[in-house]
Amino acid sequence: MPDESTNGVSIAEALRATFARWRGDAEGVRIVWAPGRVNLIGEHTDYNDGFVLPMTLGRAIYVALRARSDDRLHLRSLDFDEEVDFRLGTPPEMPPAHWTTYVGGMLYELHQRGAFATGIEMLLFGDVPIGAGLSSSAALEVAVGVAVEALTETPRDPVETALLCQYVEHTYAGVQCGIMDQFATRLGRAGHALFLDCRSLDYRNVPLPLAQASIVVVDSGVRRKLAASKYNERRAECEQAVAYFQQFDPSIQALRDVTPALFDQNKTGLPDVIRKRAQHVIEENARVEEAVRLLEAGDLAGFGACMNRSHESLRDLYEVSCAELDFLVATAQQTPGVLGARMTGGGFGGCSVNLVEKLTAEAFSEAIVDHYERQFDRVADVYLVEENVEAGVMPS
Ligand code: GLA
Repeated sequence: MPDESTNGVSIAEALRATFARWRGDAEGVRIVWAPGRVNLIGEHTDYNDGFVLPMTLGRAIYVALRARSDDRLHLRSLDFDEEVDFRLGTPPEMPPAHWTTYVGGMLYELHQRGAFATGIEMLLFGDVPIGAGLSSSAALEVAVGVAVEALTETPRDPVETALLCQYVEHTYAGVQCGIMDQFATRLGRAGHALFLDCRSLDYRNVPLPLAQASIVVVDSGVRRKLAASKYNERRAECEQAVAYFQQFDPSIQALRDVTPALFDQNKTGLPDVIRKRAQHVIEENARVEEAVRLLEAGDLAGFGACMNRSHESLRDLYEVSCAELDFLVATAQQTPGVLGARMTGGGFGGCSVNLVEKLTAEAFSEAIVDHYERQFDRVADVYLVEENVEAGVMPS
């Protein structure tokens, strides 16, 4: 478990104490967690049946829970200071993108599938920033999935859980996301990134060189309301490109199947915007494969160069960056000791991810905040990922 302790009190102890204050005692309480994730490379490729390379963070969503003898679901979020109480088997009638939508959606679907049959008391807490492109919602969904495993003492296939979480995101939150976030959060391993083929769901854990280089996540603080609709719009543009290429090769199912040669021969028939979107996806898929090869060969400079090219493509071809992210990335790329930098996640705000030589990581973190504040008059949050964790259950 991520052992972030404040004044010697671990998150687990603090959660137990808070649970006891909330429900009168903490008898039989289990604690589970699921981490947020940052994507190292492979952006907007997952829903095109392509490749991604995310890693989990050291930050997570935690759930303290226990069964009830009746059929009530009693949920409390410490982050939102909100509480809800409803009956088992009630579909969530909640505003989309509210914490209860994700939790209620997961519980409803798990109960429908026979995964559990009792009421539950759940106390939730997280230190994954919300809406920053670090998958706080996937972490919340996965944490509920793991919580039900702990409650029933019945392990569930982690790939099934990731797919169910994605279904909940589509159905209850209305975001047509790919599988990357939920898969990374459920299956990512400590000390590793996860190289995932989003078509076959085959994956490989790739060791991270955390002794030589640090992953530094910089949160621009920018949150765009339109991000979800822009995301769905990009998906539709990719589908338009697929339909176009199918006339040349009917076996094409997704942009994953469009080879660079087929693209080059036929790209002039596409509207400009659709051509740019397709080019990004096709090249980004190849970049992920190259980046994984370089990482496994220990070539961090080569890996960083792939990150830089990925950003350029997201900015100019996929058009999901913004002025703040472009500034953070360009500033990082000009800083000695920074091996690579790019925006990460869906875009339109959120975070940049930087691969920085270990010895310069602290200095870089301070300098980037300073530059950003002078340029935009706002303060960026920085997370130095020194160790990442995997989803889990605390032994009782
Ligand atoms: C969001 C989605 C993911 C993925 C990324 C972009 O994080 O949830 O499925 O598509 O955007 O790479």
